[in-house]
Amino acid sequence: MSAAVFDDPEPSVTVRAPAKINLQLGVGAPRADGFHPLATIYQAVALYDDVTVTQSEDWSVRLVEPVDGVPLGEDNIAIRAGRALVAHHGSDLAAEIVIAKGIPVAGGMAGGSADAAATLVALDRLWELETPDDEMLAIAADLGSDVPFALVGGTATGLGRGEVVAPVPDATECWWLAVFSHDGLATPAVYRHFDELSPDADAEPRLSAELLAALADGDVGAVGARMDNDLWAPARALRPDLAETERMLRGTAAAGVLLSGSGPTMLALFDNGFSARGAMAALQERGVDCAIATGPVAGAHVVTYG
Ligand code: C5P
Repeated sequence: MSAAVFDDPEPSVTVRAPAKINLQLGVGAPRADGFHPLATIYQAVALYDDVTVTQSEDWSVRLVEPVDGVPLGEDNIAIRAGRALVAHHGSDLAAEIVIAKGIPVAGGMAGGSADAAATLVALDRLWELETPDDEMLAIAADLGSDVPFALVGGTATGLGRGEVVAPVPDATECWWLAVFSHDGLATPAVYRHFDELSPDADAEPRLSAELLAALADGDVGAVGARMDNDLWAPARALRPDLAETERMLRGTAAAGVLLSGSGPTMLALFDNGFSARGAMAALQERGVDCAIATGPVAGAHVVTYG
């Protein structure tokens, strides 16, 4: 037996972070800084990225299974998250970051934001930084509009550019059937096309009181009827094939059909697992790449530490 077996392994921490969907995505006219004011209702759903961090000489990031479209250099959002956290604490520590992806890349489900949130929580635990929640949320907001929600999870409203999150009551048990698309959609392009299609968009979009009431009541049917995404029209214009996916999903027993975020993932909502599984089996028989995700679920949380 080699001596290495008896060495203490470097301590590592693994954090799991969920994908998100936007039950409402109300988009307003672009602000002076180019971002769009949002009135959104997020729900965290059970598709996850697992992020493992280990202290190291230099920053690095690697995927357990390589996926096209994820940068592996300094512009990876997980490295940016790590650097932002150590800068906040005035430290020069570094870490190796390993990501096991379960959230589709460029799918409109905030996979990059989940990685950033998971990295913040993992490094905070690894180095026992005990960063206060409000400081974590501020660091997260600087990294991306969806990153604070990936920390909070559950169901929450998002105002500002999406970064001002507040948990809301959600008594639903949602069964989402997510239909994936192999070509991603670039978020900025979808927002730009929204501007072209909606020159008269409101300066301040409003949260849907009806949708919030349906969530509090646990009424999945009413949620399905009221959920709405202002990016649906521009995404469908950029990707006409999504209309066919919508037609297919409307042919199931779903309570409603929705574009996820800026797309191209499409979602159908069911109020029970039996119907969701039945629809999934029918679609898979036709060769459609899809998966079931329940919601709401917790935000970024530690799953192992050592
Ligand atoms: O904040 P985040 O980095 O996730 O945003 C990615 C891009 O999406 C932005 O550069 C912008 O083009 C667009 N965006 C926007 N308004 C928002 C959120 C995102 O225009 N509220």
